[in-house]
Amino acid sequence: METGRGTQGILSKEMSSKREEIVELLKTAYWMELETVISYLTNSVNPDGVRAQEIKESLEEDIQEELGHAQQFATRIKELYGVVPGSMEFKAEQSYLQPPEEQVDIVHVIRGVIEAESGAIEHYTRIIEETDQVDPVTQDMVIDILHDEQEHRRLFEGFLREYQAEGLA
Ligand SMILES: [Fe+2]
Ligand SMILES: [Fe+2]
Repeated sequence: METGRGTQGILSKEMSSKREEIVELLKTAYWMELETVISYLTNSVNPDGVRAQEIKESLEEDIQEELGHAQQFATRIKELYGVVPGSMEFKAEQSYLQPPEEQVDIVHVIRGVIEAESGAIEHYTRIIEETDQVDPVTQDMVIDILHDEQEHRRLFEGFLREYQAEGLA
């Protein structure tokens, strides 16, 4: 039986090095999502103040969505014959989403979320480019996830704008 590129696409033997490349990009995405879960959980609890409430609630909702993204990335890694990495391989990178000195400093949180979403948008745009014409299934999945991240960023840019309009950011 012929199992060349024509019939098996990204799952074919001939495509193994491209597949490994995509799996590495998906692992990075997986860790980004999980770190975002940690950071959003932290920041959905820590902030103080009347105006922090909206931000906390929004982040609380996002936790489940980002966790869902991590699950999608993990599933796709396996489908591409990769192995989902264990927790010992995790390296934290979101220095900008650590708790601020004052828990009423909600602008710090808003800016941190915008930075996290921007990082995700950048990385997922790269995956969409790398999978173009070679792995439409991964590409399609990541396009949907990218849409979610664009929505998140836009929402938090709106929050920031409100503070800027009042001279608070
Ligand atoms: Fe996400
Ligand atoms: Fe997001």
